[in-house]
Amino acid sequence: MKHTKIAELLESDHFLQDFTAKGWVRAFRSNRFIALNDGSTINNLQCVLDFENTPEEILNEINIGAAISVTGTLKESEGKGQRVEIEVKNIEILGTANPEEVKKTILSPKRHTLEKLREQAHLRVRTNTFSAVMRVRSQLSFAVHQYFNQNGFNYVNTPIITGSDAEGAGEMFKVTNFDLNNVPKNEDGSINYKEDFFGKEANLTVSGQLEGETYALGLGQIYTFGPTFRAENSNTSRHLAEFWMIEPEVAFCDLDGNMDLAEDFIKHVINHVLDNCDDDLAFLENRVIQEDKSKPQAERAPMALREKLRFIVDNNFKRVSYTEAIDILKNSKPNKKKKFNYVIEEWGADLQSEHERYLVEKHFKCPVILFDYPANIKAFYMRLNEDGKTVRAMDILFPGIGEIVGGSQREERLDVLQTKMKELGVDEKELWWYLDTRRFGTCVHSGFGLGFERLVLFATGMTNIRDVIPYPRTPKSAEF
Ligand code: 4AD
Ligand code: MG
Repeated sequence: MKHTKIAELLESDHFLQDFTAKGWVRAFRSNRFIALNDGSTINNLQCVLDFENTPEEILNEINIGAAISVTGTLKESEGKGQRVEIEVKNIEILGTANPEEVKKTILSPKRHTLEKLREQAHLRVRTNTFSAVMRVRSQLSFAVHQYFNQNGFNYVNTPIITGSDAEGAGEMFKVTNFDLNNVPKNEDGSINYKEDFFGKEANLTVSGQLEGETYALGLGQIYTFGPTFRAENSNTSRHLAEFWMIEPEVAFCDLDGNMDLAEDFIKHVINHVLDNCDDDLAFLENRVIQEDKSKPQAERAPMALREKLRFIVDNNFKRVSYTEAIDILKNSKPNKKKKFNYVIEEWGADLQSEHERYLVEKHFKCPVILFDYPANIKAFYMRLNEDGKTVRAMDILFPGIGEIVGGSQREERLDVLQTKMKELGVDEKELWWYLDTRRFGTCVHSGFGLGFERLVLFATGMTNIRDVIPYPRTPKSAEF
């Protein structure tokens, strides 16, 4: 018999019909009640055994973690907590799980810390928390493609291995096919990294933007959605060495259009999970509430998860220039006892995450789009404003997350771009192809990058970025 997904059975009204379900045992009580989960939903299917007629050798194998197949009749449940249950007629053990071994893992039925789950990243998808996060992640990813598809964007796959440093920040992982016995050397005997990829220099991409721009200036509107890599040694709960980025790029679009696009896009994807992931969000929401009980009031989440997501969808993001933000920060007394660790004295300083969070969480209390940053703290490709000292950059800051989006209107004037590249030491020879876009039919264009894991963090109420990607890569962990 073909098996039916548990998500479907839990909604079914086909009482007294027979179904087969397959999944992993989450609990087995009184030799009679099996809680079965197949990953299609956070909820378990209760399967009721007639244990007197179930052979001993089968009963002995119905252990937590085992994979089983049950066939039986769908009934209305008299027990509390579920609407339906399966009265089992036949049960098959598909894959055993030794209880003594299970006890040593995170499959054992007690509360494990998230740190503990990370140590067994290959098993954590069998837990409620992690499976809920991964279903929400998958739905967000679908909504990303849905949004751009519905709005006439083309999906472009930019290279993972690339010669260019899009951000000019030098945070790249090298790609090499060195023959370790024959490493190319410079005259002074040091390793010649310029020749490490079939005679050329190559890195893992930090952003698909530059290649994305060339495609936008032909297809009009494009987006990328792929893995990006940063070799920064940041051990924070917001940074990964490998993360997924969504990067739309639009021709004939200025910074205002870019802000509109980013806001509309974020609202669409959040709305999608509100509409499609209610059970998982309810579970995750409750998780945060339980965790918060042990925290002091000031550290607790100010809104329940779904309320927070609805707030994002229903309210305009606040648009504030960098200069206005600096004034706010200068005049603020964030906390009488505890000042900012890093006080902004001068216009021109980069904002630290404590400042971003102050603006969003304490001052405006809503998502903030900061724009028109000082040119000297931003990348070379951003459009210089008429004042000659700020660029048409925008960062979107989210409560509890900080920066979720970084983007800009691009410098479309060849001469201005060349001057800027010279100033910053960006080699024209390496980006000749990029400069060609400014030679042949250049135009106003804009785009942004959204860090997908930061979005998943926000949507799930999780607090560490390592808990929203299957196998986190950080300076301290890449074991799996
Ligand atoms: O601000 P970033 O560095 O901007 C760019 O890479 C541009 N080229 C994007 C563009 O305009 N097309 O990165 C964009 C976003 C950040 O706002 C953040 O959400 C995320 O990527 N991000 C990271 N996420 C996780 N771990 C890291 N180490 C990240 N670095 C950036
Ligand atoms: Mg940024």
